[in-house]
Amino acid sequence: MENFTNVGDIGDLRAALAEAAEVKRNRYAWDTLGRNRTMVMLFFNSSLRTRLSTQKAAQNLGMNVMVLDVAQGAWKLETERGVIMDGDRPEHLLEAVPVIGSYCDIIGVRSFASLTDKTADYGEVVLNQFIQHSGRPVVSLESATRHPLQSFADLITIEEFRRSARPKVVLTWAPHPRALPQAVPNSFAEWMRAAAALPEGGVDFVITHPRGYELAPEFVGDARVEYDQRRAFEGAEFIYAKNWSAWADPNYGKILSSDRDWMVDEAKMALTDNAFFMHCLPVRRNMIVTDGVIESPTSIVIPQAANREISAQVVLQRMLRAL
Ligand code: CP
Repeated sequence: MENFTNVGDIGDLRAALAEAAEVKRNRYAWDTLGRNRTMVMLFFNSSLRTRLSTQKAAQNLGMNVMVLDVAQGAWKLETERGVIMDGDRPEHLLEAVPVIGSYCDIIGVRSFASLTDKTADYGEVVLNQFIQHSGRPVVSLESATRHPLQSFADLITIEEFRRSARPKVVLTWAPHPRALPQAVPNSFAEWMRAAAALPEGGVDFVITHPRGYELAPEFVGDARVEYDQRRAFEGAEFIYAKNWSAWADPNYGKILSSDRDWMVDEAKMALTDNAFFMHCLPVRRNMIVTDGVIESPTSIVIPQAANREISAQVVLQRMLRAL
């Protein structure tokens, strides 16, 4: 595997899920694969799960890991080429990226959407500079438009908890006080559509959100969009909640609705087929989901987060084997 930035990079989903199950049976079985190999993880914004789970996965494989918070303790980085660097950013990514590449074998990058410059966000300017100039395989630790390690962990979790051959999986928008990127829902949609296309053991994927929160067509594809959240929940086996800001112009990156009626609560969960509740975390309780739902026996947010270690290990194993 050269880089890992989207569902296409994982190849055959069944093979990836089988590999994940193998890792889960004994995650220390390949503890010398990464001997004398180093991973640098760069974070342009905060993280709990991605940082810890990816570091743990790399350590399971015997790798050295270095973590750099760009906002704390590193020079502020300029990302745009051609600017006169007379502001508060003393270093350009075009120098920093190859320097970082010279210290490691694999680079993990968490960049984040600006939510103000849609062209730069959807052009993945930061992530692509790492891919073009580091000379190393790059793992996306969440980019402006996708969060593939999260989505792979989500798929692993659905595979583990599914009760039927083709469960109904519903991605639902839910309210949030701050504008958030579309990366998680974009990515989840991309991976669920790939799962829906499997001849056996697929999913029936539905997206529900208020009008105005349509995601980019390249991510929605042929997935069913249902604007009535309660109707969407009927018969669902998995409810995946997430907030996102508007994608469509002229409202890119804006909050259009804070309608608390879209929060996932017990009454809505009662419409489902005893659905499992999922969220990538961190989650704002009693905005996105009630205390009762997230603490219920069908909430699987903790095993879902635990599977982040597994998805990261599968990806790193494949990268190490290809070095
Ligand atoms: N789900 C997720 O990526 O969590 P962090 O932002 O804490 O890494």
